[in-house]
Amino acid sequence: MSKLLVKFIAVTGCAAVAVAFIGRQQPVEAAGAPPVHAAAALPMANKYAEVCQVCHQANGLGLEGAFPPLAGSEWLSGPAIVPIAIVLKGLQGEIVVKGKTYGGAMMAWEGTMSDDDVAATLTYARTQWGNRSAPVTVALVRAARTRFAKRTTPWTSAELKALK
Ligand code: HEC
Repeated sequence: MSKLLVKFIAVTGCAAVAVAFIGRQQPVEAAGAPPVHAAAALPMANKYAEVCQVCHQANGLGLEGAFPPLAGSEWLSGPAIVPIAIVLKGLQGEIVVKGKTYGGAMMAWEGTMSDDDVAATLTYARTQWGNRSAPVTVALVRAARTRFAKRTTPWTSAELKALK
């Protein structure tokens, strides 16, 4: 290995680039791009346990009087735009979930969750605990992020009902 190449590897700190460089198996710029794992992206980005579980619980039942359930929730299971909107911007004021009224607040996650994260986490929640709703695609989340880009406040349940 030439001195220059060793220096290059040390500077970039990226073995993948070096391998591509040496082996000429792929262009260097492609090796530097983020990896594309189309099939693996969804489960890997599921942040339910990390982000949502502390409130909505591992069993999706929430906590009576404080955190509403996601298991059997009409808000989570309806049109995907509604739970996407909730996760991106948060929620405040009264909301009735499975016949019970909650009056807390949920913070926005748009700053800490990527489109992949939101899609995979909602897809997980929409297919757990007996929920049987369609997956949420990354494209839907991306479109919603653009659509609500100017919004800076959490939703109210009345606004969510009117969302299409
Ligand atoms: C710190 C606690 C907390 C965390 C973390 C949290 N939520 Fe919530 N969530 C709430 C509260 C409280 C409400 C009800 C807000 C209200 O009363 O207006 C709510 C409401 C919801 C609703 C609408 C009502 C329902 O039960 O379906 C959905 C959907 C939802 N959350 C999904 C999520 C998802 C997905 C995550 C993880 C990305 C998450 N939440 C993280 C506290 C939390």
